[in-house]
Amino acid sequence: MDQQHQLKIEAARAALKYIEDDQIIGIGTGSTVNCFIELLKDHTHRIKGAVSSSVVSTQRLEALGIEVIDLNDAAEIPVYVDGTDESNHNLELIKGGGGALSREKIIAAVADTFVCIADQSKYVETLGDFPLPIEVLPMARSYVARELVKLGGDPVYRHGFVTDNGNIILDVHNMEITQAKILEEKINQITGVVTNGLFATRPADHLILATNKGIQEYSK
Ligand code: A5P
Repeated sequence: MDQQHQLKIEAARAALKYIEDDQIIGIGTGSTVNCFIELLKDHTHRIKGAVSSSVVSTQRLEALGIEVIDLNDAAEIPVYVDGTDESNHNLELIKGGGGALSREKIIAAVADTFVCIADQSKYVETLGDFPLPIEVLPMARSYVARELVKLGGDPVYRHGFVTDNGNIILDVHNMEITQAKILEEKINQITGVVTNGLFATRPADHLILATNKGIQEYSK
């Protein structure tokens, strides 16, 4: 097993302390979350159910016998656990490398507490090295791309990828993101954008970062 994967497992393990008995938990998407789901197999008896951010995570949860509940039927989500592509010191994130950003953002908005789990490579000084994913309605693709160029980015169409919602992704390169909240709002104002992968208006509450020197935890 490579070292990065080992760190993902350690970050996932450190998040288990946030799971309390008989609650509905929110579950994100990605390889780090897959490690977390794997660890849940020893805790299924105390989990009431899960709200999932993707078809892939749903399949993995159901394979463990964890009931996946429609978000509209969940009165509350005390804890949401998800990975990230980048985090800065304010726990503002870039997410969506796996294309599940819109459902992730919805669950994060509903959750009382958002616990982000990551290996050390995800912690950055300034957001934007990782191309910013944007979910877009297919017919608006070219228009949205032109508007993103006006904002200073270089949007690239993610060929051959369709989101769980039937939309496309534009990955925006070369954005040095110093005012994440403002940019998040600006991009979401472009007609045809479902949402963008900046999680600044609703950042993480806790970041569990697995490093070579052990677990580091940052809180808002
Ligand atoms: C999925 O759309 C993403 O937001 C993931 O949460 C993010 O890309 C982190 O994925 P990894 O854990 O695979 O790095």
